[in-house]
Amino acid sequence: MLVFSGVQPTGTLHIGNYIGSIKQWISLQKEYPCVFCIVDLHAITVRHVPAKLRTLTLDVAATYLAAGVDFERHILFVQSEVAEHTQLTWILNSLAKVSELKLMHQFKEKSKEDAKNINAALFDYPVLMAADILLYKATHVPIGHDQMQHMEITRELARRFNAQFGEVFPIPEGVLHKFGARIMGLDDPTKKMAKTASSAYNYILLTDTIDEARDKIKHAVTDSGREIIFGEKKPAVSNLITIYSALTDTPISDIEKKYEGKGYKEFKEGLADAICEFLGTFQKKYKKFRSDEKLLNSILDDGAKRAKKIASKTFAEVRDAVGLGRGDSK
Ligand code: TRP
Repeated sequence: MLVFSGVQPTGTLHIGNYIGSIKQWISLQKEYPCVFCIVDLHAITVRHVPAKLRTLTLDVAATYLAAGVDFERHILFVQSEVAEHTQLTWILNSLAKVSELKLMHQFKEKSKEDAKNINAALFDYPVLMAADILLYKATHVPIGHDQMQHMEITRELARRFNAQFGEVFPIPEGVLHKFGARIMGLDDPTKKMAKTASSAYNYILLTDTIDEARDKIKHAVTDSGREIIFGEKKPAVSNLITIYSALTDTPISDIEKKYEGKGYKEFKEGLADAICEFLGTFQKKYKKFRSDEKLLNSILDDGAKRAKKIASKTFAEVRDAVGLGRGDSK
């Protein structure tokens, strides 16, 4: 059993990302050995600014460390520092079909977003993702719903490789984030919370100040009626209850009980308190990691070293199986 997951170093994260994906990583690391990867090679499939990419890579590392990634027991590293990711991608490219890559929703969407920059790396994005996962012979891959199609390709490439060259890879399984798809915009509970939303009242960023967060909760939309109950008829309130529940690790039924007979105002005050407490603790830890680049670098150096050890072993097996070089990985 091994968990592998990747996160792109793009922009500031919001509490939906935290609850949906970061928190999932933290809970999985209690049970399984984990390899967590900051996928900077994926980030260059769209236009980017070099200096910004570098800063964001460290920002994301500090974010995951602040959230509780245990870098001593598990591995946290930067993708481009382990060259085997691109090397395995090339080999898997020989098994991936243009026809199946053309069907990827993400490729189609990103092609539409920037029609002048439909580059070959963007097209190949899912194969690089497959290489990430297969290099570590991962069995479980926490992902958001939007990555399910890429996971299917990964599984198919592993099957194809094994059938053609002998059993090398276990077939990995996607593990859907528990709340990932369900944290909705504060100003519109029918759509996922997103940093790209037109209004800042849609989301609470992990970098928001306490005052900003309180103001956003005050403005969050609610439903008709006045009860604090979870259910289909109350999409806005249910979303707020989910956030409350996830950030305080309180069962939903306990929250409903706590606010029985009380109104939205009181509930929102309680929620704002919970969010502010979470943000306060998180931001203190974030600052500690982000302001100490020596520490950050030593954690990432060590992570890359340990990742490389696993990756190079798998890659040697792959080379030999495929018939590259002169055998026994020469
Ligand atoms: N494509 C993933 C995303 O955007 C990030 C990613 C890259 C990833 N490689 C991965 C996720 C390997 C899981 C496993 O969310």
